[in-house]
Amino acid sequence: MNYKEALHHPIFKIITKSAEKLQLEAYVIGGFVRDFILKRENAKDIDIVAIGSGIALAKQVAKSLPNKPKVQVFKTYGTAMLRYEDIEIEFVGARKESYSEDSRNPIIENGSLQDDQNRRDFTINALALSINNNNFGKLLDPFNGINDLETKIIKTPLNPDVTYSDDPLRMLRAIRFATQLNFSIEEESLNAITKNADRIKIITKERIITELNKILESTKPSVGFLLLEKTRLLELILPELTALKGVEEVEGQRHKDNFYHTLEVVDNISNHTNNLWLRWAALLHDIGKAPTKKFHKKIGWTFHGHEFEGSKMVYRLFKRLKMPLNDKMKFVQKMVLMSSRPIVLAQDIVTDSAVRRLVFDAGDYVDDLMTLCEADITTKNPKKFKKYHNNFKIVREKIIEVEERDHVRNFQPPISGEEIMETFLLKPSPEIGVIKEFIKEAILEGDIPNEYEAAYKLMLDKGKKLGLEIRK
Ligand code: CTP
Repeated sequence: MNYKEALHHPIFKIITKSAEKLQLEAYVIGGFVRDFILKRENAKDIDIVAIGSGIALAKQVAKSLPNKPKVQVFKTYGTAMLRYEDIEIEFVGARKESYSEDSRNPIIENGSLQDDQNRRDFTINALALSINNNNFGKLLDPFNGINDLETKIIKTPLNPDVTYSDDPLRMLRAIRFATQLNFSIEEESLNAITKNADRIKIITKERIITELNKILESTKPSVGFLLLEKTRLLELILPELTALKGVEEVEGQRHKDNFYHTLEVVDNISNHTNNLWLRWAALLHDIGKAPTKKFHKKIGWTFHGHEFEGSKMVYRLFKRLKMPLNDKMKFVQKMVLMSSRPIVLAQDIVTDSAVRRLVFDAGDYVDDLMTLCEADITTKNPKKFKKYHNNFKIVREKIIEVEERDHVRNFQPPISGEEIMETFLLKPSPEIGVIKEFIKEAILEGDIPNEYEAAYKLMLDKGKKLGLEIRK
């Protein structure tokens, strides 16, 4: 492989010159090199390691660039960052480092390139390319990371206990890379993760979520969640999911294992959407089943109200993990809350009024909800599988039909509260709500069209029945 090809961007020559000026060596390292070899879409993040001060090199590079970009310095970490065009370049001085037991902040000492490579997370992330004039484009690969890229192995440069304990976030990174790249984690490493799993507690929630999101954004997220479960990390991060594990049997009646079912749903939905929050909704759609599970002698296993319970749990889970509590969370809640609605519909005859109600309640999210429900079909019975999918097709067609005709998405009642007050000379009072609700129900039921005239007439009728007088 000609590694010079990776370095064709003019920025590398500028870094070479700047390093020469400061009389230090510089190398490109980490993800950029890995992704070039894997022919992954070229990363816009470049990591440069300098044998000397990374901050000084960053400043020198910035001075040499036409637009003189600002250098952001992170003193505690001894790193600096600058942006050039659409590239983000991070500079670090080669270091020999060790971490203290209870924090991520390293104790830093200057070191050689090899020292620096030793302290990196995985052999495939420790590959370095020289950008020095005497050997520009030479690969420096002390741990045979090239071989691990070929055989698709995630492995640490040092004893995995040391690497993971230096920075426990790496346990999640190992699983994330395995999921994204479709690699296996070496057994010794997997054992070390299991052994050190509890150390994940010292990692901030934000960094944990960044990795979880990357797992969820992968082509087949179940790979990651199965590894998280196997290594005990899932139990520590998302106990709501591990609580879904297992099949219970009472009097010969079994329920399905809702954990494995959930992972199937997540994989299914990932074939149909890149929407991260819809993927979260798939992951959490059944979490209410653990606390609501009951066995009834006559009807067997039930999870009564699990959607409502689940949507409340979504809020608590997002809060605990410091995830956004904005419209993203509300969207996930809504999906979980409504996750059974189309299913009930598809098992029965699909009536217009049921579809109207669904569109009314789901609003703009009705398509996402349908995608979730289709992904939720994991039955292994081919006849049922076909039947449910067919019914959902009918539901989707009816949604379009009902929408065109009745416009109930983002429903605005054709008669306002003010108009009711004026018509009957009313002050604000419960009757107004009663009439409004009556009109809405009639429209959703299909008793009257979603139009002013019909609604006005219904208002007069209802007012009369309530004994209200019409203003003369
Ligand atoms: N690194 C590390 N330990 C960490 C994080 C990062 O050793 N906990 C090192 C690795 O050598 C990694 C490099 O720093 O390749 C850059 O890290 P980062 O930008 O987070 O990841 P990338 O490997 O570039 O991959 P991605 O962009 O997919 O996150």
